[in-house]
Amino acid sequence: MVGDVVGTAAERIAVAVRAGGHIALSGGSTPRAANERVAALGLDWSKTVLWFGDERAVGPDHEHSNYAMARSSLLDRIPGAQPRVHRIRGELGHEQAAIAYARELGGVFGGEAPQMDLLLLGLGPDAHCASLFPDDAALGERARWVVGVGTPGMAPLVPRVTVTLPVLNAAREVVFLISGGDKAEAVARAFGDAPGPDAPASLVRPEPGRLTVLLDPPAAARLEDGR
Ligand code: 6PG
Repeated sequence: MVGDVVGTAAERIAVAVRAGGHIALSGGSTPRAANERVAALGLDWSKTVLWFGDERAVGPDHEHSNYAMARSSLLDRIPGAQPRVHRIRGELGHEQAAIAYARELGGVFGGEAPQMDLLLLGLGPDAHCASLFPDDAALGERARWVVGVGTPGMAPLVPRVTVTLPVLNAAREVVFLISGGDKAEAVARAFGDAPGPDAPASLVRPEPGRLTVLLDPPAAARLEDGR
């Protein structure tokens, strides 16, 4: 869907909040505006449980923390009842944080692959999503729900913690928020070409869940002209 990425994303989040569900927030910078928009809607978040698709192995106050971005763009702006928040404790280090988060997911979802009602993702210029980078071994993970990534494929070059494909593809709805011409080639590879580990986002195809790709016109440029 090409158009108002921020407005459409904020409305998708609002629908999930009104329904009271499990929402996995995305890292990176693109979600910030949608977070701010939905925080201003005055919704009741008391029945909502917030998770994270990935995190950098840093503390919650670090400039690279995805939690810090969510806190300043969303959590600190929610006036009334707060959602329940499950933060990835990056400060534990990528391996220990992954183990701890998998345990937390298991505590809520039991033995089944955690099923998010809404899972938000961005897209890197290399077609990575969450912290699943091109041709990384983490892409082959089928047993663990969360893994540590010691060497990320892109800046910030700090170790990462990420949910794996089984969790991404178990979601009821996955929504990609993508803006900017620097993503056009990655968009074409992730949503135009045949799926493959060189374009991790091409492997995110929730079944039986729904996939929505929100693009602004520059990000869609290579898709639309069919190259
Ligand atoms: C992260 C993200 C990552 C991000 C993309 C897009 O922790 O870095 O989860 O997958 O979504 O890199 O980032 P931007 O939105 O900043 O372009």
